[in-house]
Amino acid sequence: MRGNSFQGKRVVLTGASSGIGWYLATQLVQAGANVVVTSRRAERLRQLRLATGNPLKRLIAVPGDITDADHRQHVIDTAAEQLGGIDILINNAGIGAIGRFDQASPDRLRRIFDVDFFAAAEMTRLALPWLKEGREPAVCVVSSVLAHRGVPEKSEYCAAKFALRGWAESLRIELRGDGIAVVTVSPSTTRSEFFESLIDSPRDARSFSFGCQSAQQVAGKVLRAIRRRKREVVLSPGGKALVWLSRLAPGFTERLILANY
Ligand SMILES: NC(=O)c1ccc[n+]([C@@H]2O[C@H](COP(=O)([O-])OP(=O)(O)OC[C@H]3O[C@@H](n4cnc5c(N)ncnc54)[C@H](OP(=O)(O)O)[C@@H]3O)[C@@H](O)[C@H]2O)c1
Repeated sequence: MRGNSFQGKRVVLTGASSGIGWYLATQLVQAGANVVVTSRRAERLRQLRLATGNPLKRLIAVPGDITDADHRQHVIDTAAEQLGGIDILINNAGIGAIGRFDQASPDRLRRIFDVDFFAAAEMTRLALPWLKEGREPAVCVVSSVLAHRGVPEKSEYCAAKFALRGWAESLRIELRGDGIAVVTVSPSTTRSEFFESLIDSPRDARSFSFGCQSAQQVAGKVLRAIRRRKREVVLSPGGKALVWLSRLAPGFTERLILANY
């Protein structure tokens, strides 16, 4: 698909009801893809269908909870039946939390892993037989800069995104012979509903960041990475700086984070 378009591509996208996923869906439809989208809020997905104008019924909404195995199977079956297969899977759905690990419940850790790691891995497992038959097939994982650098008060989120990135790295090599690209994209702080949807976090929880990107901008970069079949892309200059600083000078990076925490 290098230099090519999404025209006619059959895409499954999770987490389409807001933020990055919303713009991924609208941009994919604009680019001529056929997209099966999922997330829990059915009304939002209905609004998304209206927002895209849904030309030629190219957007199919399958509302539900991605942590439910039956729902994941239903999403994949819908794509197989209505699109005739899958070329691209975008694992975008994600949740986070803010707060110290020693003050949090085991449930917070488990819920974050259920959405951010297990659901993405298991969606991929179900999609793989279809992707193997797909056209220029790709799995995209929407990760985070925090998959490269742990920060305080986001230990569960960092752990889940680190896990996702490591899993994707293994998968990329395993799937090379099948011609399936595994594309990991790591956004930095993005304007979306992410921080309004934090679980088990104080109401006044705040997140420190250097700058912020729009969800629309991030979605465009995610699609460019898929089009170019990139291995891993850190999306913002600040994110790139953090990743490199962290590798080259981990002690200094820790002190820098502590000073801004
Ligand atoms: N915002 C940031 O600063 C930032 C930075 C780096 C990486 N990211 C990553 O980018 C991705 C998209 O996040 P965003 O910023 O666009 O946040 P967002 O606006 O909160 O979107 C998250 C999406 O995930 C869906 N979702 C959450 N739990 C779900 C579940 N159990 N089942 C099905 N869908 C579920 C939500 O839909 P429903 O609520 O309708 O289910 C929503 O569509 C996430 O993986 C996030 O970790 C975000």
